[in-house]
Amino acid sequence: MLGLGTVYGDWASLTLSSFVFLALLTLASRYFLGSLKHIPGPFVAKFSSLPLFYQAWHGNRVFWIMEQHRRYGPVIRIAPDKVCVASSDGIKKIYGTKTAKSEAYSTFRYHDVKMCIGLLDVKSAHQRRKGLLPAFSRQNLVEMEPVIRGHLQSFLHWLQVFDRRNVPVDAFKWFRYLTFDVVADISFGQKIGMLDGDDSHFIQQVEYRNKRNSLNGPFPFILPVLRLLRSDTAKHWMEADEEIAKYAIRAKEGWSKSENQDRPRVDILARLEEARTLNPENGLSDKEIIAEMMEILNAGSDTTANTAMFACFELACRPEVQKALQQELHDAFPDPTEPLLLEKLERLPYLDGVCREGLRLHAPIPSYLERVAPPGGLEISGCFIPAGTKVGMQSYTNHRNPTVYPQPEEFIPDRWNGPTPEMKLNFLPFSAGPRACIGLNLANMQLRIHLGHIFRKYSVHCAEDTTRASMRHVEFFAIRPKSGTCNLYFRQIEQQEQKCV
Ligand code: HEM
Repeated sequence: MLGLGTVYGDWASLTLSSFVFLALLTLASRYFLGSLKHIPGPFVAKFSSLPLFYQAWHGNRVFWIMEQHRRYGPVIRIAPDKVCVASSDGIKKIYGTKTAKSEAYSTFRYHDVKMCIGLLDVKSAHQRRKGLLPAFSRQNLVEMEPVIRGHLQSFLHWLQVFDRRNVPVDAFKWFRYLTFDVVADISFGQKIGMLDGDDSHFIQQVEYRNKRNSLNGPFPFILPVLRLLRSDTAKHWMEADEEIAKYAIRAKEGWSKSENQDRPRVDILARLEEARTLNPENGLSDKEIIAEMMEILNAGSDTTANTAMFACFELACRPEVQKALQQELHDAFPDPTEPLLLEKLERLPYLDGVCREGLRLHAPIPSYLERVAPPGGLEISGCFIPAGTKVGMQSYTNHRNPTVYPQPEEFIPDRWNGPTPEMKLNFLPFSAGPRACIGLNLANMQLRIHLGHIFRKYSVHCAEDTTRASMRHVEFFAIRPKSGTCNLYFRQIEQQEQKCV
C-alpha cells in the first residue's frame, strides 16, 4: 500500500512540473506566437522584462537600449510588451496626438492626485496644460528676466567667494539651488532662498523621487516588495513626496499671505486661482495645485541645473571651446559693466550652440518615454507595431546618430550654425508634440542668461576628482553624474583680460 507521504510527494512533484510546464509554455508563446514576434531584440527580452529591469535598477537603461539599437536596428523589442524606436520617421507618430502615455506614468502623483505629467490621455493633459502654459509663455517670461538675473547675482556672489577661498564649487549642488530659487520665484512669487542656505535636503528628495518614478512606474511591483522587505529605500521613496510637498505647501502659504498688490506680476498660482474663481467646477482643487507645484519645483529645477552643470563641465574639458565662447561674449559686451540682456544673449550663435550641444549630449531626461500604440497600430521604418503595444524613443540614441550629427560624441557648438532639417527634427531634449515640456522657454532663457554671465566673467576648469568617469551619466528618468558631485573651479578673469579674452 502507498504511504501518505508518497501520495503527497507525487502531488507536489506533479504540481511543480505543471507549474514549470505552464511557465515554459507562456514564455514560448510570448517568443513564438506574440504579435511582436517579428520585431528583433535581445533573446531574453522577448519573453522576460528582467534584462530591462536589471539595467533600469542600475541606472544603465539608456545605454543598454542604445547598445541594442546598434545590434538589432532602429525598431527593437526591449521587453515582451515594449518596443523602442530610433528612427526619425517615428517621432511624429509616437509623440503625436493619437498616442496616450502608458500606465507607467501613473506614478507621477501626489497621494491620489495626478500631476500633469502623469495624465495619460492627450485630452485631459491639454486641459491641465492650458492652466499652466500661459505662465511659461515667452511673452510672460521675458518680463521675468530681472527675477532670473536677481537670483543669478547671488549665485555669482558665491562663485566669487569660492574663488577667493581657492576652493572648487560643487556645480551639481549650486546650479540646483539657483534653478530652484528661480523657478519658485517665477512660478509662485516666492523667495525660498536655497542659495542663502546651502540646503541640500531638497536635492536628496528629488533624487529619491526620480529613482522611484523611473523604477516603480514601469515595474509597479517594486515598491510593495521593498516595503515588504522593510527596506530603507522604500521608506525614503515614500517620504520624498511628503518632503517635497512641504516646500510646495510653504510656497503656497507664503503666496496666500501676500496681498495682491505685493505681487508685482501674474505668476502661475495667480493664474490657477483665477481659473478656479471663474470656473469653480473645472478649477484645480487645493491638492491638485500642490501636486502641480511639486512637479514644477522638481521638473523645473533639476533639469535646467543639470544642463548648465554638464555644459560647464564640457567647457572645462575643452579650453578652445571655452575660449571661443568667452571671445564671443567679450565682443558682444566689451564693457564689463554693461548688463548682459537676454535679447542680445539670444542672438549669439556660439552661445546658442553651447546650449544646444549641452542639451544634445546631456539631455536631462534622455530615456525611453513610453506611449501606447493607437487603434490601427503604427507603421514605423517598415515595421508594424500593433495597437496597444508600449512604444517609445529615447533622445539619447537620436542625439548620437552619426548620420544626423557627425562625430556625435564631440561637443561642437559650431555644428548648430545652419542646422539641417534632420538635426532639428532629431533634437529632442524637451520631447515633441502635445506632451512636450511646458518649461522649454524658461529653460532656454535660463541657460543663455546663466552661461552668458558666467563665461563673460569666469574661466572654468575641473577639480582633480571631476573626470569623464566621475561625470558618467546615471539615469533614473533624469540623469545625474555617477559620483553625485561636479567640482569645478570658477576663476574670475582679470579685468585686463576681460577686456580682451
Ligand atoms: C533643460 C530643461 C528641461 C528639459 C530638458 C525638460 C525636458 C522635459 C521632457 C523630455 C518632458 C517630457 C516627459 C515625458 O513625456 O515623459 C518634460 C515634461 C515636462 N516638463 Fe520639462 N524639461 C526642462 C525644464 C522644465 C521646466 C523649467 C519646467 C517648469 C518650470 C518643466 C516642466 C515640465 C512639465 C510640467 C512637464 C510635463 C508636460 C506634460 O506631461 O504634458 N520642465 N520636460
